[in-house]
Amino acid sequence: MRSRLHIYGLLAEFDQPDRLLHAARTAHKAGYKRMDGYAPFPIHGLAAALGLRSSRLPLIVLAGGIVGCFGGFFMQWFANVVHYPMNIGGRPFNSWPAFIIITFETTILCAGLAAVLGMLALNGLPQPYHPLFNVAHFELASRTHFFLCIEAIDKKFDLTQTAEFLKSLNPTNITIVPAGRLQKPVETATGHATPARLPMILLCCGMLGLLVGCEHPADNELFKMDDHGRLMPMEPSEVFADGTSARPLVEGTVARGDLRLDPHLFTGKVDGKAAETFPFPITRARLERGRQQYQINCAHCHNDTGDGDGMIVRRGFTRPPSYHEDRLRTAPVGHFYDVITNGWGAMYSHNDKVSVEDRWAIAAYIRVLQFSQNADMNALSPEDQNQLAAAIAAPTTAASAGSTTAPAAGGAH
Ligand code: HEC
Repeated sequence: MRSRLHIYGLLAEFDQPDRLLHAARTAHKAGYKRMDGYAPFPIHGLAAALGLRSSRLPLIVLAGGIVGCFGGFFMQWFANVVHYPMNIGGRPFNSWPAFIIITFETTILCAGLAAVLGMLALNGLPQPYHPLFNVAHFELASRTHFFLCIEAIDKKFDLTQTAEFLKSLNPTNITIVPAGRLQKPVETATGHATPARLPMILLCCGMLGLLVGCEHPADNELFKMDDHGRLMPMEPSEVFADGTSARPLVEGTVARGDLRLDPHLFTGKVDGKAAETFPFPITRARLERGRQQYQINCAHCHNDTGDGDGMIVRRGFTRPPSYHEDRLRTAPVGHFYDVITNGWGAMYSHNDKVSVEDRWAIAAYIRVLQFSQNADMNALSPEDQNQLAAAIAAPTTAASAGSTTAPAAGGAH
């Protein structure tokens, strides 16, 4: 019994894959269970011949996936319903369709991790050492020879009987594999020298040394390859007296493209007074652009028609004046440019959101809106006049017809 503890197993060596296959089959039939075959290449049918059961890995992966799925969903449910409920666009807190993507991701993540870790665990890896390395000859398992090892923990294992049994399988060699770690591998009859590993290890270490070669002593600025002196934004610098690396503009200079010579265009003022005219011709394309920008930047407060009843105002924001009151209808266009640029009372400035050209385009579009709400009946084409007269005659449809046709008519001008 004692001797069994110091033996890992019995190793039989074969020179043909078929012999190994035959040996594995016979051993399995003879009732041996704890054994393994070793070959330089995959041998079809060897796993079945050894009686290996299919791996439990799929089950582990499934378990990982289920844990990830429920864990991911629970995490989001807990965060959104229990811990930090937040009203997002009026959705219910437990808005599960929004959780699907992250749940999917955590499922894949946990299943993947379970696959890798489960594979390592089932294989008993990492295993830098194995008792079979005690047999010097065993190196041939990755080159030319085929091995069958019956392990000592097998219930049927008995040193003499199992050795007899292996002999009956006609191996080229049988070796007892010691269990502990030996200083020097057991040499078998044929004997093979271990390839010199030390020089290889030394070479690898030497090459690792090359990696640190980029760093040089700090006093040799010229050769500091790991730090080429570039400053990150906001990084302090010792070069300048104020200690910052960012430099202010030199006084009296203008950055390229920032020259603002034309006060009409850039301030909306002519001779200090709000401009009455546009700084460039207003075309149909500009009006279209103005409408688009107005709807993006202004309509949520000033409403589509400019009456000041936008959806934010309906929810409590200060009500802006209507563009259709007389004061604003007669206000110079430069005033609108100025309000957009600098803000006005409760209205904040839009100069960071709307470009100079777009501000003028919006001002022009406001003129269109104003015209649309105050147009002279006689300025309309005869068809439009007829349509309008018909709408007025039928009061029930007048309201909807009026609200849809008015801006369209305005846009056409
Ligand atoms: C967040 C809501 C909001 C947005 C967005 C907004 N405004 Fe206003 N606007 C206001 C309010 C409120 C006032 C009234 C301010 C006051 O009198 O204190 C106002 C006033 C005005 C006035 C009238 C100034 C005067 O002389 O009384 C004009 C013109 C104007 N806005 C144009 C615009 C344009 C053009 C845009 C889009 C670029 C815009 N606003 C975007 C809320 C807004």
